[in-house]
Amino acid sequence: MNSGAFLRLSAALLALVSLLNCAAPPAKAPPPYRAVATLEEVMHGMVIPNAQTVWQSVGMVNTAKGMEEFQPKTEDDWIRVEAAAVTLTESGNLLMMDGRAKDNAKWMELCQGLVKAGESVHQAAKKRDPSELFTRGGDLFDACQACHFTYRFEKDPTVIRTH
Ligand code: HEC
Repeated sequence: MNSGAFLRLSAALLALVSLLNCAAPPAKAPPPYRAVATLEEVMHGMVIPNAQTVWQSVGMVNTAKGMEEFQPKTEDDWIRVEAAAVTLTESGNLLMMDGRAKDNAKWMELCQGLVKAGESVHQAAKKRDPSELFTRGGDLFDACQACHFTYRFEKDPTVIRTH
């Protein structure tokens, strides 16, 4: 392409870009979210009870007869775990909202950790796979701890900061 043709092409492209810009709709207003519950209320109202549902659904318990394994048995048991996982996953998104987010960097990463862990618990429950559910329950615990190590340390002297 000679330089004249190149310039003409550039000019045409520029014109096209400015045309597209003019045609672009006005910037969308953000959804009218309002963080109603405090961070602590989200923990107590959604995160903690649903994490307990997951953790109490599968594992081992020491009984008079020795160690016994337990896991979801009925279809209803599995559906309850699925629902808990969905709530946990979406609570990760709720923690990212203005009014709850502690910052715009590390906090977001740790919330995404909760979203991801909740998703993987959900997948395991959908597969009706108790051993995967047990492993993913462990990942969920790690996601909780990762955030508490960073943001709750001052309130909880029993938590040992590892970084
Ligand atoms: C993105 C960060 C983050 C994640 C992820 C997170 N938490 Fe929290 N959590 C906090 C913060 C911050 C507090 C302190 C809230 C306050 O006192 O205002 C807290 C408080 C708590 C408390 C203490 C509540 C109280 O009354 O003092 C518990 C229990 C808890 N979280 C459980 C969990 C569990 C279980 C999970 C995972 C399933 C989890 N959290 C995931 C940030 C997080």
